[in-house]
Amino acid sequence: MNYRFSARLGNFSSSAVREILKLTQGDSIISFAGGLPAEEHFPATAVAEAFERVMRQGNKALQYGLTEGFLPLRESLGKRMAGKGMNVTPDHMLITTGSQQVIDLLSRIYLDPGDVVLVERPTYLSALQVFRSYGAVPVSVSGDKDGIDLDDLKAKLEQYKPKMLYVIPTFSNPTGRVWSEERRRGAIELCRGANALILEDDPYGELKFGDASRNYPSMFSLDKHPDDSCVVYTSTFSKTVAPGLRTGWALGDAEVIRQMARAKQAADLQSSSLDQQMLHQLLEYFDLDGHIEFVRKEYEKRMKLMADLLRRHNWRGAKWEEPKGGMFFWVELPEEIDTAELLKSAVELGVAFVPGITFYADNPQRNAMRMNFSYNDEAGTVTGMDRLTQALSAVLV
Ligand SMILES: Cc1ncc(COP(=O)(O)O)c(C=O)c1O
Repeated sequence: MNYRFSARLGNFSSSAVREILKLTQGDSIISFAGGLPAEEHFPATAVAEAFERVMRQGNKALQYGLTEGFLPLRESLGKRMAGKGMNVTPDHMLITTGSQQVIDLLSRIYLDPGDVVLVERPTYLSALQVFRSYGAVPVSVSGDKDGIDLDDLKAKLEQYKPKMLYVIPTFSNPTGRVWSEERRRGAIELCRGANALILEDDPYGELKFGDASRNYPSMFSLDKHPDDSCVVYTSTFSKTVAPGLRTGWALGDAEVIRQMARAKQAADLQSSSLDQQMLHQLLEYFDLDGHIEFVRKEYEKRMKLMADLLRRHNWRGAKWEEPKGGMFFWVELPEEIDTAELLKSAVELGVAFVPGITFYADNPQRNAMRMNFSYNDEAGTVTGMDRLTQALSAVLV
């Protein structure tokens, strides 16, 4: 057969890094590469009980549901969101197949080929892939440890007149950084002035370390909302319950949500009814906040362990900050080190990470690496860091 794939397929990049990371699936490799939660901490018993409750309701539990999402789940999630300063009705919420689908659906309804999307530098790889798949052009905006650089944002809003800014302001993937409130407010003001929609991606906001009362208000909560908001907010159950459920949500202006629901109908009709009903039961009968508190503490321990090991191994010229939450360390090595090259020798020694080059919309930095600390247990992290130090010793002479 002479398959006649669409021209659009050319926008789905393949990458050498992805090919190497495919080799890291086996048990012999310790992977710091994925953004994976710790399996041993999934609330498996509570999930099983919640499924049982759903099934006791009879066969209707297995029926098709609304594209917008299971109404009781939207209501219970609405209450959770109100606790975080985001006041919405079910009409301002769409339940999706993970946050990834929010990025996809918003791109479908908002972006035309050639449109510029401003993104952070560096940013989430799979968002770049989505924007490019629709022919949009991601352009990066500089930032520092306090978030996006407002001068650069202003300049790029003027230069490119972008329709959208995509950001991860709380415990970013890949850098683990968190924006100050001043940067959040500043970016909202600039984007509102330039009529650019902000997509605020917040999968990690609940995973904060240290003082639990410390708040990092979402940009959606800081902006006028829910209607006429210049922010569309997305979060997910992937990092707080389990990613296999593939359930996330979007909050936004009712018209934006309505258009996204139309696109969702074409994409997959709805997200799994069963999973949504189970999650509703979980929110009603399970102490999700207690569980999140437990997971936060466990991840903080794992983060501290990796920080200790980074200090102990003391890689020459390495720069990194202790993240205040989330799942990642962002380590910058001396400029002459190409971490994509380093990955090859690391995988041979049985350890993997993601080279920084994959996270840039443009002008990639080659000497950085993203390291996940949430997935491996203590023994795995210690051995993985030993192996990585060995791989580095060959290049950091
Ligand atoms: C920044 C960011 N956005 C979105 C996602 C996708 O999450 P989900 O599992 O909800 O689709 C991830 C997953 O790692 C992520 O890191």
